[in-house]
Amino acid sequence: MTDFNLRYESYLSTFENYLNGYAAKLHTKPEILGESMKYSLQSGGKRIRPVLALACADVAGVAAEEILPFALALEMIHTYSLIHDDLPAMDNDDFRRGKPSCHKAFGEANAILAGDALLNEAYAICFTECLKGEKQVLASQFLNECAGAYGMIAGQSADLASSSSTNEPTETELEYIYEHKTGKLLLAPVMLASLLSDDKRYLPFERFGKLLGVLFQMTDDILDVTGEFDKLGKTLGKDETENKLTCVRLYGLEGAKIRADMCAKDCHAVLEGIDGDVQFLSDLIDYVLARSK
Ligand code: IPE
Ligand code: IPE
Ligand code: MG
Ligand code: MG
Ligand code: MG
Repeated sequence: MTDFNLRYESYLSTFENYLNGYAAKLHTKPEILGESMKYSLQSGGKRIRPVLALACADVAGVAAEEILPFALALEMIHTYSLIHDDLPAMDNDDFRRGKPSCHKAFGEANAILAGDALLNEAYAICFTECLKGEKQVLASQFLNECAGAYGMIAGQSADLASSSSTNEPTETELEYIYEHKTGKLLLAPVMLASLLSDDKRYLPFERFGKLLGVLFQMTDDILDVTGEFDKLGKTLGKDETENKLTCVRLYGLEGAKIRADMCAKDCHAVLEGIDGDVQFLSDLIDYVLARSK
């Protein structure tokens, strides 16, 4: 195993242990609510957002215990966004993380509630953290901004609007979708680490998080065309079927790959401006660029 893989596995197992501790205590009435929440929350996934949160916490000198509650809240918000994204009224996808989507396993109404409950649980975690001090309040506010009406949900709304629009798609529209629907929940882990630290290096962290988020959605769009179901665990070719505005639609497959390369280079350049041991983050950029799942 490479150093990068070892560190990824180590962050991953720290996070999975924490998440499993939360899940073990989750008992709802009716039970189907908790079961559907856990079905999606504990179904694997790369966990790139919590891994990124833990890695940035290391760079910013924040202890794992301090960032873990926020990493969990973030992964819960991400998971709820996937459950709702897969619903027939949105992207209509029957598979997620290699298994039937939440609505295929539990029915649409239960899937909507599982998503709603995960979102509420995420904020319950944040409220508990807020009792610890001002940094935690700032981190919670930031997470809320990234997830809500000015963040991921705005991006999902723009994604839906563009797929039913008959106008010629523009680069500005694509950038808005990227920066919001995906970018905000990848910016969040980077900034959470920065907000919980004492060193206040917000700007370079912010630039890094934004570019990594855009790169992540570029490769998601490319993999929708070039990927394999066994690795991705979700239906391929969905973007064309659903008339989505993607970098492949706008620039063609080769053009999209060139832009992803350029974005990765920009991301590396920004990272060079961040002091400390950023080797893992540098490798993470290359991992996102070359990923097959
Ligand atoms: C999928 O996210 C949705 C996007 C924002 C592109 P991930 O590719 O991180 O999905 P999981 O969590 O690994 O399943
Ligand atoms: C989803 O983007 C982004 C969010 C869930 C917020 P996509 O619709 O492209 O993600 P996949 O391809 O279904 O994972
Ligand atoms: Mg979508
Ligand atoms: Mg989708
Ligand atoms: Mg996609």
